[in-house]
Amino acid sequence: MNAVTMQAETENKAEAAPATDAFFRIEDVHAYYGESYIVQGVDFKVDHGRILALLGRNGAGKTSTLRTIARTDDPQLRRGEIWLDGQPLHTMRAHQAALAGVQLVPEDRRIISGLTVEENIALAQVAPGHGWELERIYSHFPRLAERRKQEGVTLSGGEQQMLAIARALARDVKLLLLDEPYEGLAPVIVQEIERILQEIKALGITTIIVEQNAIAALRLADDAVILDTGEVAFAGSAAEVLENKDLRQEYLAV
Ligand SMILES: Nc1ncnc2c1ncn2[C@@H]1O[C@H](COP(=O)(O)OP(=O)(O)OP(=O)(O)O)[C@@H](O)[C@H]1O
Ligand SMILES: [Mg+2]
Repeated sequence: MNAVTMQAETENKAEAAPATDAFFRIEDVHAYYGESYIVQGVDFKVDHGRILALLGRNGAGKTSTLRTIARTDDPQLRRGEIWLDGQPLHTMRAHQAALAGVQLVPEDRRIISGLTVEENIALAQVAPGHGWELERIYSHFPRLAERRKQEGVTLSGGEQQMLAIARALARDVKLLLLDEPYEGLAPVIVQEIERILQEIKALGITTIIVEQNAIAALRLADDAVILDTGEVAFAGSAAEVLENKDLRQEYLAV
């Protein structure tokens, strides 16, 4: 191969890469609760270190999509592929997906009662050398550092959300899935969590955020996907959704 053809080959490869090599992609995914067909052929991708807002009305399938990505037993994935950093999540069970770097922070946050903030984080640490050390976590969550000896379940809602995110960091998260993280929180706390999520993003963590508070999620996100009855109705930039009032009214009622 002479230098000219080699250069041409390299250029072709460089052009082809973005379509196939997204850090995370979900392809033609179909998932069911028993016989209820809920996730109906969902496709989207997220590049490394970006934040994607996954939006849509009540019952659109947002939580089901997150659960499918995290490979929980319900809903059941029946068709499609899910790839994270070259790893086939669609072939994995939930614990394997967790080891591959997927961390779902569910709506109810699941703070373990009877354990302090620090114990909640320590329990999440899989093995020495994996995930973030406590002091590194505390440097991003000063409120948790102050309350490290307090029982986790006695924290405020916002602090519990921070603890749930901190636990995901302790587990060496590559893809952070947040289901309604701002639910029930005052705007000032929402802003504090947004700041933390931006800091985490700057460190290269990729995030998918599901939120009823679409405006706050879009303000944070780079990309947006809107689901409508288990299908993708829109995929594009978050800025596009913020600017498009018709789109917001049709699918988000904001
Ligand atoms: N465990 C389940 N068994 C059967 N159907 C379910 C189950 N969980 C959710 N569904 C149905 O799946 C559909 C999508 O639900 P999902 O919770 O994914 O929506 P969502 O977009 O997260 O909604 P919300 O904004 O209300 O949280 C709904 O019709 C819901 O009734
Ligand atoms: Mg939901």
